[in-house]
Amino acid sequence: MRASLDPIQTLHEEPADAEVVSHRLMLRAGFVRKVAGGIYSYLPMAIRSLRKVERIVREEMDRAGALEVLLPALQPSDLWEKTGRWQEYGPELFRVSDRHERPFALGPTHEEVITDLISQTVRSYRQLPVLVYQIQTKFRDERRPRFGILRGREFIMKDAYSFSASEEDARRIYAVMQETYARIFTRMGLDCRMVEADSGLIGGNHSHEFMVLAQSGEDTVLLCEKCSWASNVEKAPEARLCPACGEPVVSRTAIEVGHVFYLGHKYSSRMEATFLDAAGKEVPFFMGCYGIGVSRLLAAAIEQSHDEQGMIWPMSIAPFRATVLPLGPGMMERAETGQVVSALEEIWPGEIYVDDREIRPGMKFQDADLRGFPYQVILGERNVEKGCGEVKIRRTGERIVASLPEIPALLHRRAATESPEA
Ligand SMILES: Nc1ncnc2c1ncn2[C@@H]1O[C@H](COP(=O)(O)OP(=O)(O)OP(=O)(O)O)[C@@H](O)[C@H]1O
Ligand SMILES: [Mg+2]
Ligand SMILES: [Zn+2]
Repeated sequence: MRASLDPIQTLHEEPADAEVVSHRLMLRAGFVRKVAGGIYSYLPMAIRSLRKVERIVREEMDRAGALEVLLPALQPSDLWEKTGRWQEYGPELFRVSDRHERPFALGPTHEEVITDLISQTVRSYRQLPVLVYQIQTKFRDERRPRFGILRGREFIMKDAYSFSASEEDARRIYAVMQETYARIFTRMGLDCRMVEADSGLIGGNHSHEFMVLAQSGEDTVLLCEKCSWASNVEKAPEARLCPACGEPVVSRTAIEVGHVFYLGHKYSSRMEATFLDAAGKEVPFFMGCYGIGVSRLLAAAIEQSHDEQGMIWPMSIAPFRATVLPLGPGMMERAETGQVVSALEEIWPGEIYVDDREIRPGMKFQDADLRGFPYQVILGERNVEKGCGEVKIRRTGERIVASLPEIPALLHRRAATESPEA
């Protein structure tokens, strides 16, 4: 893509009301713009990363045998009356009426809709288990929307729901989802911990959260320094020593990016959602639900990976893998520039961002650093005259001068060792 096609400018002054790094950088780098409190427009750069996050989530959910659906955001209140959540959910639930003054909710989560659907569809234990997911916009009138897209009132979630004929099978799917989540976050290049959690408003009696350790996190987790034990502080407020190995625990702030719940009969019994078991008896489904904060992940990735100059994207979810920076007048038109861009497009189709704007080199460097593309290919007149270009590795700051035809192979090699997950 050419920079000149994109009307969005980067901001060089500090945005006024951004309290955390990811929010500040997303505004400055032209990834999002605020429309109202907790409501954002996603601009072309952000959409590229968002689609990559979604692709990884889809691939791993599909691999786990989940089926994709798309449920409505607009949901009649009677479904919510059935579970009692029309009252229970309180002011966080967005409520609207249609022209006949019939009440609806804007879905903050979809247990009601999916349980209703499955109970109408599945009659026998022979049709179980069922595991479905969707990637969709959710609405929650958060008490304190803040930190940009980290806590929005409209945000994108992957939510999945499982229906099993036995508790044992529901727990098996729960374990499959735990592994799936670990794979998803590893592929995104995130350092993520699974912690024991409180079940909150959705929950049955068993849940785990996936936490990205970051200073701006609104959650506090307790971690064991010796083993892998970790817990949300809400679940084990008094813990000073690790229950698994007896070593001292440390407390860290973190961002919740995923959550798995074992629900048991919580929703199926309230909604009378039953199937016929092997003995011909009506039994409520054993359920689980599994969420990932798809849009929140973009901000969490930035919180975990940035420096003074800006974002540093993991390869697998970077908006573009590499940027080409032709410097100075006439460099964009030179044949060498065109050749480098086409050769890079061969190895990474659609992944090259060409800064063809007629601006000072210093501005191009700043913007490339700010937006955090993993690789920069800098084409200055002096190097190009000698048949060379300079490669800058964003994460390390390392610079390598290479002959122009060698650059694509060099990037390909570096990416294979530096980002094997991508
Ligand atoms: N307001 C929000 N903005 C962006 N992402 C959110 C928001 N609320 C929840 N999420 C994401 O959706 C996932 C699944 O939703 P869930 O209902 O489990 O969240 P939650 O427990 O309410 O999260 P939190 O404790 O942060 O409010 C969360 O793990 C989180 O990543
Ligand atoms: Mg919440
Ligand atoms: Zn331990």
